[in-house]
Amino acid sequence: MSEIFRAKIKENRPLTNHHYLLTLHPLINIALPNPGQFFMLSVDESLDPLLKRPFSVHRTVEGGFQILYRVVGKATKILSAKSPGDEIEALGPLGNGFPLNISNSENVILTAGGMGIAPMLALADKIAGLKPLLFYGARTAGELLCLDDFRDSGIEPIISTDDGTCGRKGSVIDSLESYISSAGSNNFGLYACGPKPMLSSLSKFCAKHEITAYMALEESMACGIGTCLGCVVKTNEGYKRVCKEGPVFSSREIIW
Ligand SMILES: Cc1cc2nc3c(=O)[nH]c(=O)nc-3n(C[C@H](O)[C@H](O)[C@H](O)COP(=O)(O)OP(=O)(O)OC[C@H]3O[C@@H](n4cnc5c(N)ncnc54)[C@H](O)[C@@H]3O)c2cc1C
Ligand code: FES
Repeated sequence: MSEIFRAKIKENRPLTNHHYLLTLHPLINIALPNPGQFFMLSVDESLDPLLKRPFSVHRTVEGGFQILYRVVGKATKILSAKSPGDEIEALGPLGNGFPLNISNSENVILTAGGMGIAPMLALADKIAGLKPLLFYGARTAGELLCLDDFRDSGIEPIISTDDGTCGRKGSVIDSLESYISSAGSNNFGLYACGPKPMLSSLSKFCAKHEITAYMALEESMACGIGTCLGCVVKTNEGYKRVCKEGPVFSSREIIW
């Protein structure tokens, strides 16, 4: 069950010039978030910015959970200036999260593009026994995050960058394509999060290879609880709310 609660900032650690790892300790007992679920965070007591902002749970830790975020505008800039001991208001956990048993096979692939890496560590923690592979794409080497956290969990990320500064030059889908053809099997379950164009291409890729895939979508959100209809996406069963029926959808469901 989701609730509104106050949380103390335990740590707000800069990872790069514009990426931060925020550790929050809720001041009440809250439901443990599942991988792929998210929280709406209120970054300021004032009315500016008025709306809470959605962030995926990056990892659950003792006493609370972590959020991995990129500074892109007003709310994230304010958040980045917060210090340990400060309190913020949050709402959650929200949304459906990733289904955890999507594949009959034991071959599970995590695919992340850019900030799409944020929910993947919680998922990797949860399904560690399946020994998932991680395909991780970013624009450039300096934008790759949390590599050591995955390595500590026994996952060696298979990296691609647009500019070739780390790993294979090209998209994460190029890397997946060559992996699937060398593996000689399409018996995989796939989880993904990343920018919309990447997810759209990945959906086509999964359809072509008959791979079962679940994808966490991002849409602008005003309420986060299903009432404003600001976050709807078109699916083959009509419009669905990313905050309520999602953010995780089957790749077969979304009309891109
Ligand atoms: C379900 C869900 C989970 C999310 N999880 C995370 C997460 O774990 N970590 C994280 O960093 N972000 C996450 N986001 C995106 C995050 O909510 C936005 O980055 C945040 O709301 C921006 O608020 P702002 O006030 O700083 O920027 P705004 O003023 O709202 O936006 C500033 C500018 O940045 C653009 N922008 C907004 N979001 C993004 C983005 N994600 N990437 C690039 N440009 C963007 C806007 O179009 C605008 O031009 C998630 C979004 C959703 C819907
Ligand atoms: S954000 Fe309001 S319905 Fe989804």
